[in-house]
Amino acid sequence: MSLEFAARLRRIPSYPVAQTYAVDGELAKLASNETPFGPSAAVREAIEAQVRTLNRYPDPAKARLRDALAARLGVAAGAIAVGNGSCELLFAAADALLEPGAEMVYAWPSFSVYPQLAAQSGARAIEVPLDDAYRHDLDAMAREVTVATRMVLVCNPNNPTGTALPVAEIDAFVGSLPRHVAVLLDEAYVEFNTLQDPLESLALLGKHPNLVILRTFSKVYGLAGLRVGYAIGSEDFRRAVDTVRQPFSVSTLAQAGAIEALRHVDELERRVERTVIERVGIEDELSDRDLEFAESQANFSWIALGDRDEDAVMEALAKRGVIVRGGKALGAAGFLRVTYGTREENNRFLAALDEALG
Ligand SMILES: Cc1ncc(COP(=O)(O)O)c(C=O)c1O
Repeated sequence: MSLEFAARLRRIPSYPVAQTYAVDGELAKLASNETPFGPSAAVREAIEAQVRTLNRYPDPAKARLRDALAARLGVAAGAIAVGNGSCELLFAAADALLEPGAEMVYAWPSFSVYPQLAAQSGARAIEVPLDDAYRHDLDAMAREVTVATRMVLVCNPNNPTGTALPVAEIDAFVGSLPRHVAVLLDEAYVEFNTLQDPLESLALLGKHPNLVILRTFSKVYGLAGLRVGYAIGSEDFRRAVDTVRQPFSVSTLAQAGAIEALRHVDELERRVERTVIERVGIEDELSDRDLEFAESQANFSWIALGDRDEDAVMEALAKRGVIVRGGKALGAAGFLRVTYGTREENNRFLAALDEALG
């Protein structure tokens, strides 16, 4: 007899996993928007120092990390929720806000987890196509908001296209929506965005009580394997996401590593600078090859392949040990999303791309 699963399971799309984990050899791992920079010695030491305490559960309130974030960002600790990656907070928000009959609005293509959020809760997903420049079309998104809308997602900079909107446009958008609608501004890549200071969008929280900003230690902090992210919103929002998830989801090691990482802002600035240099370099190389790409404010590029066969290009790159993402799995066929790695990895990507494109 087979197991009888919940009916909603059939509606949930599975997360498109990168090929990185299935291929052996010396790979250029440019598929998951990680940074090539490992954790600093200080962060490694802070994590190692906690190993001997692992017989104990982690602090369920994540109090020290929330206090450190509050001090760093100039917001109240009570309004910060810490999660097992910002993904956990996305799922918890969906759990707390959505249900059958409710609606959720987001741009497409955008982060591939978003469709799962609606499917899991039984809410209706409304996908609004990006504009011709691969940016969120906020006017079109606002037109989709109804009395049934509970949650609107804005990914800025957007994954997978890297495009970003100015804070003023997001401010006007959130201001135009009814207050019962939670707007989740997913800023996983905000540190790489040279159009704004990362503190700028935080100022919107004081104006819009329905706004929640999501950030992560997985990208510029180089701690994707540790799994820590956070949401800054209201006390109500934090209580709601804490109610629907288990109390011990953020490990002791993760909390200690994140606290230490926050002490090294100068290191972050260096990483951002190196990433932006790679961004400009890759964009120059793509332009030299007459390839069209979206204007990126993130640590990856979204490249249009025109009439070339995406699968064939991906396969040719993988054969040369270069793992990127194809657009088909991310919502738009005929594109590549390549994360910037080290200079060597990026050169390896460009050389492999030349061979792949003939
Ligand atoms: C837009 C966006 N949001 C959130 C995440 C999730 O990050 P994490 O769960 O590692 O914090 C990612 C990861 O790729 C992302 O691209």
